[in-house]
Amino acid sequence: MADTPAAPQAGAIDVAAVRALFPALHQQVNGAALAYLDNAATTQMPVAVLDAMRRFEEHDRANIHRGVHTLSQRATDAFDGARAALKRFVGAGREHELVFTSGTTEALNTVASGLWAGGPGHAWLREGDEIVVSGLEHHANLVPWQHAARRTGARLRILRPDAEGRVHEAGLQALLSPRTRVFAITACANATGERPPYEALLAMAHGAGALTVLDAAQAVGHAVPALSRLECDFMAFSGHKMYGPMGTGALVGRRAALERLYPLRLGGDMVEWVSFDDAGYAGLPARLEGGTPNVGGAVGLAAAARFIEQQGRAAIDAHVHQLRAHALAGLQSIAGVRVLAPHAQEAALVSFVADEVHPHDIGTLLDERGIAVRTGHHCAEPLLTQLVQGPTTRASFAIYNTHDEVDRLVAAVAHAVKALR
Ligand code: ALA
Repeated sequence: MADTPAAPQAGAIDVAAVRALFPALHQQVNGAALAYLDNAATTQMPVAVLDAMRRFEEHDRANIHRGVHTLSQRATDAFDGARAALKRFVGAGREHELVFTSGTTEALNTVASGLWAGGPGHAWLREGDEIVVSGLEHHANLVPWQHAARRTGARLRILRPDAEGRVHEAGLQALLSPRTRVFAITACANATGERPPYEALLAMAHGAGALTVLDAAQAVGHAVPALSRLECDFMAFSGHKMYGPMGTGALVGRRAALERLYPLRLGGDMVEWVSFDDAGYAGLPARLEGGTPNVGGAVGLAAAARFIEQQGRAAIDAHVHQLRAHALAGLQSIAGVRVLAPHAQEAALVSFVADEVHPHDIGTLLDERGIAVRTGHHCAEPLLTQLVQGPTTRASFAIYNTHDEVDRLVAAVAHAVKALR
């Protein structure tokens, strides 16, 4: 088994102090201390986020925008304040706007459907156009584009990864054409940890006249892309992967691009006027936020962004990279275990397969030792089919994970592989 990497340097995360802020971590599971290593799926929430939501629900809860009464005004202020905080968090500039969504999936559907649902004369996507999507994607950044292609007669083209799971600028260059209208890619592949050169790829696609889409769900908890430095029209992220509440997230993008989207949700709060025959839609961001929003969730999401900023993004990033390097070395020392994208140093996860052993069996034996990992296709079936013809086991790290937990993971995987073969 590989040596544990050196202890973190000064300025690093004080993991013991951080762990004290997360109530869910302090429990026994199957007779062992919980080692929660499923953070790429959902992170736990610190008390600061729980408290912010509780304060809102106990003190300020009311519907926004429609009320003249004090609680409605307080709720509106809380919602607007959360929006402003999150725009700062992702480095949005004057040209950007942020729309609250239920998460990354809704954000990406809002873009993919919004680009054709306006109908003839309004749609960005038309028959014969081309949509280029990277082959690293979660289903949420693939299936909506398949649907958009079917509905419009556009052609879906995939930027295929190589045998190691990398995508390349030359590959995109070969796909771009005057008909390319959209390019969509992840900032970090959830199934492998691959970190594509998305800055350069987005710039290339933008240069070719495409609208560009970035799925930042797996990056936002530790390596938040600075939006104003990217050639990015739309960026999506989720609250529950950044220490925030489930059912929250955002679509943030250039106003001019967001204005092209036909709203997914039609109804209250997204209109300026309504007659029996017609309606005038509101401007951004309300136009894309029909219905009563999750105001308490937005407050919690902004509190999660504050938590990340207080801890320091660079420190969180360094911490999860150390854990990943430790796990990589340990897992690679087990005979018959293959880690996907081992080169992906910027990832916060390791995804691996073991000869002759099914990931679900590994996951079950790990759970018996209190270790929570994810097994399966991770909603990225085409990528895993190409790379390993099947599912993987994935351990993913967050600010509160420890090197001791990584040691437990590696020992438990070694035990499971031996027991199951
Ligand atoms: N998208 C989540 C994951 O990668 C659920 O696990």
